[in-house]
Amino acid sequence: MTVLVVDFGAQYAQLIARRVREARVYSEIVQSTISADEVRAKKPSAIILSGGPKSVYEDPAPSLDPAIYELGVPILGICYGAQLMALQLGGDVAHTGGGEYGRTELTRQGPSALMREWPDTQSCWMSHGDAIATAPVGFVVTASTPLAPVAVMEDDERRLYAVQFHPEVAHAERGQELLENFLHHVGEIPPTWTNTSIIDEQVAIIRERVGSERVLCALSGGVDSAVAAALVTKAIGSQLTCVFVDTGLMRKDEGEQIEATFTRQFGVRLIHVKAQDRFFEALAGVTDPERKRKIIGELFIREFEEVARELTEGAESPRFLVQGTLYPDVIESGSGHAANIKSHHNVGGLPEDLSFELIEPLRSLFKDEVRHVGEELGLPADIVWRQPFPGPGLGVRIIGEVTRERAEILRNADHVVVDEIKKAGLYRELWQSFAVLPAVRTVGVMGDGRTYAYPIVIRAVTSDDAMTADWARLPYEVIESIANRLIREVPGVNRVALDVTSKPPGTIEWE
Ligand code: XMP
Repeated sequence: MTVLVVDFGAQYAQLIARRVREARVYSEIVQSTISADEVRAKKPSAIILSGGPKSVYEDPAPSLDPAIYELGVPILGICYGAQLMALQLGGDVAHTGGGEYGRTELTRQGPSALMREWPDTQSCWMSHGDAIATAPVGFVVTASTPLAPVAVMEDDERRLYAVQFHPEVAHAERGQELLENFLHHVGEIPPTWTNTSIIDEQVAIIRERVGSERVLCALSGGVDSAVAAALVTKAIGSQLTCVFVDTGLMRKDEGEQIEATFTRQFGVRLIHVKAQDRFFEALAGVTDPERKRKIIGELFIREFEEVARELTEGAESPRFLVQGTLYPDVIESGSGHAANIKSHHNVGGLPEDLSFELIEPLRSLFKDEVRHVGEELGLPADIVWRQPFPGPGLGVRIIGEVTRERAEILRNADHVVVDEIKKAGLYRELWQSFAVLPAVRTVGVMGDGRTYAYPIVIRAVTSDDAMTADWARLPYEVIESIANRLIREVPGVNRVALDVTSKPPGTIEWE
């Protein structure tokens, strides 16, 4: 049972897709150029047309194959999607002049499938310039606002519905209820898409595909690879081999935790490559950020490749490689934008003679869903709720040459920052919170003596998707306890600073 969310641009479609899933119904995002035949082939149980940044009268403005309205599938149009539906089915859309933005009072009239138990007036969340002026024949207008005479229109017979406001935004009261009425009552789709059903479905798919072959997985210490590996373990257990390459640039206790979870708890075969020496050697004398990233990325691939080659040449050669690709990666690579600000790395760069078939069990999931699946699979909360960590690790948080000594200082400093943030109950609220070590030294005084040691910068940001971020307004007491502990507990540190740069103009990481 799939709901298709037609994307008319901006970020609205992703949000709608997530809300549908919160209603326990599986959803997929499709481009607005999709044809009626392609829609029919996907056999959707319902369709939602998203909002978008354009006006229906702009040229070009995205449109929809009108034959989609004839498929007999229930359709809900939201904002731009609502106006497009009105226009395509013979109604009128007008430039209202001012438009409505933010909280607006909605007045209901008559019975409604979407607003079943709503009061006569209800606040809703508006963001529109144009508005539907006349509903197409067959539709009943069931609600209006001061500037939107047709705020909601419904055609029960054809099961076509349109709402001018945004039920998907977080501050829309009863917005989720409206979506659920559409899905569960109008569309008669039961709320059966749960973490357990996701796991069962993926386990069945993986078993079927893998058969008795062997599978390889690179664990990074991050959430995605851990959940992907746990899922594959549940499916085919002993046929999986995991590889963890310790670069010397990981967070405190990261390797031990991976080892404890996967070897002792899940009983997976884990190859723990202790490659620290080789990484520090390769990074000696290098200060340019992009060069550092390239060296770390390439060496990582080489270390992984070596293990993979050994296994491939052995009797039990792996045929599949697990990757923790998520749904937003899939959507974004489909639209193909994003400038290359920093070179990221993953294990996609393996040489051609080492080709694996990919298993990507998280391809249809959003990050928060991955975390819940991870919890359900029994992964420890520490792993599941871990903040994002860049592939090159502490290497891009040491500003200047990366040395073993600096990595050790930064690892201990980072642990203090994270520990205090956790104690203050802020860890899950923040997108990231960590320490940065600029490789300069400053003068200080401790006891009777002069010190000459490194400063640590506290970096904490809030964000939804890492594309933009704001510096976190940490309480003074939290900053104070972090600073005190850093100086007291981390040898080599004698000064603490706070980064108050948002993104843009800064990036989240320093390099
Ligand atoms: P920036 O610093 O560009 O980072 O604002 C945005 C997000 O991406 C993470 N990041 C990386 N993740 N490999 C990764 O997997 C990388 O090479 C990498 N570099 C940055 C960063 O931590 C932030 O969440």
